[in-house]
Amino acid sequence: MFIDVINLKKSYTTGSVTTEVLKGIGMKLEKGETGVILGPSGSGKSTLINIIGGIDRGDSGQVSVDGVEITDLNDDQLTDYRRGDIGFVFQFYNLVPNLTVGENIEVVSNISKSPLDTDVVLAAVGMRDKKHRFPRELSGGEQQRVSIARAIVKNPKLLLCDEPTGALDFLTSRFILQLLQQVNQKYGTTILMITHNAAIAAMANRVFRLRSGEVVEESVNQNTVPAERIEW
Ligand SMILES: Nc1ncnc2c1ncn2[C@@H]1O[C@H](COP(=O)(O)OP(=O)(O)OP(=O)(O)O)[C@@H](O)[C@H]1O
Ligand SMILES: [Mg+2]
Repeated sequence: MFIDVINLKKSYTTGSVTTEVLKGIGMKLEKGETGVILGPSGSGKSTLINIIGGIDRGDSGQVSVDGVEITDLNDDQLTDYRRGDIGFVFQFYNLVPNLTVGENIEVVSNISKSPLDTDVVLAAVGMRDKKHRFPRELSGGEQQRVSIARAIVKNPKLLLCDEPTGALDFLTSRFILQLLQQVNQKYGTTILMITHNAAIAAMANRVFRLRSGEVVEESVNQNTVPAERIEW
């Protein structure tokens, strides 16, 4: 199993109040699969993928990714894991505003062990001709394409996407989903994606529904739908 989460728990304490945000999550995803996490706001989706991606740590339980038990890693090892193996795509792109498109990609490729070529990934997302623009000179959909290029330039094993189409209109969203599906097919990248949009689940191999920090439903999809056929 490529991702294997076992009985993962996480609480946050603010002041004197402790809230259990993840209450013993179990989740599995095979290499090369696409997984979708659905669930209401506050159900723990971002917390879960941030722990899988090494941005945050759980309190107890096990999280293994490609055979590495990340719960056992020290801080330096966790940083290496996050830098080397994980690509992140966020709802609001998180590009560095005073760097050009090309430079936003290169800050990542420069610290990667075996990066892909910047121009190749920019061409893959259809942004080769805008390499010298700044993020403010791009539409939201174009910024998200650049953020996908930045996530894949390090050739990550795992692409974690937190509401990647949350700020985009229907057609742009579908284009972004097609891009993610192409990345999955071309590079064999395993993808785990959070969305509020249940229609997007049709393109996933596995769908996990979270409610109040628990997986309340898991389904396996034998007939995944190409992103270009998804409608909502
Ligand atoms: N750093 C933090 N400190 C305290 N509480 C937090 C922290 N991060 C998240 N929480 C709380 O944990 C719960 C789950 O948050 P999380 O961001 O994982 O939800 P989510 O499912 O991603 O929601 P959304 O769909 O709105 O993004 C929320 O109640 C949130 O307030
Ligand atoms: Mg969230």
